[in-house]
Amino acid sequence: MIKQKLFANFAHPQGLLGRFAGRIMATKRSNRERGAWAVGELDVAPDARVLEVGYGPGVTIAQLASGMTGGRIVGVDRSDVMLAQAQRRNKRAVASGNVELRVGDAQQLDVDLTDFDLILGINVWQFWTDQTATITALADRLSAGGRLAVVYMQPPTGKTTGEEARSKMQDQFERAGLSEINVRTMAFDPPAVMMIGHR
Ligand SMILES: C[S@@+](CC[C@H](N)C(=O)[O-])C[C@H]1O[C@@H](n2cnc3c(N)ncnc32)[C@H](O)[C@@H]1O
Repeated sequence: MIKQKLFANFAHPQGLLGRFAGRIMATKRSNRERGAWAVGELDVAPDARVLEVGYGPGVTIAQLASGMTGGRIVGVDRSDVMLAQAQRRNKRAVASGNVELRVGDAQQLDVDLTDFDLILGINVWQFWTDQTATITALADRLSAGGRLAVVYMQPPTGKTTGEEARSKMQDQFERAGLSEINVRTMAFDPPAVMMIGHR
């Protein structure tokens, strides 16, 4: 029962259990390594405009911010508990204006969030109620040539395997009109897949 409640807090961290889930996300080795792998694979330009949806405790935001010089990173997560943890973790970058963190829904982004060189979502795709519509809407927020990258690793309670996610995402990226679609796989146990498409 408590385990189920804790797992639900990875989808939408709230209250005390949400804070605990955030701590697990921030410290679990596989989680940190997956974020670092995705950032490394994407080879983000130091002056890029980046949006991360579902930033959780903000570990990937920090990894992205450490390589940026003139760029800007915006994060959107639906959890105010995650906002607090991500703000603490990225205090200096937020204060400098290089990083902006918001509470919001990746499925219904604020209108001003547009023209990104890269939009990244790590282990958040599985929570979208209409994945094709969300991917299409995110693709619309990219600059010409911008990239959408969606990462998935089957969670302990998740039914969708990495292979199933890969096939669904491929179809969703194609329907969204993205081009040069390619997939990267990290040999975790279970493997992590990252689908990348260009506008
Ligand atoms: C499993 S956590 C992953 C966090 C982080 N990306 C990581 O890999 O550690 C999922 C996060 O996505 C957020 N989330 C889920 N659905 C969302 C949505 N529709 N819009 C914005 N954030 C969402 C949750 O609040 C949670 O912080």
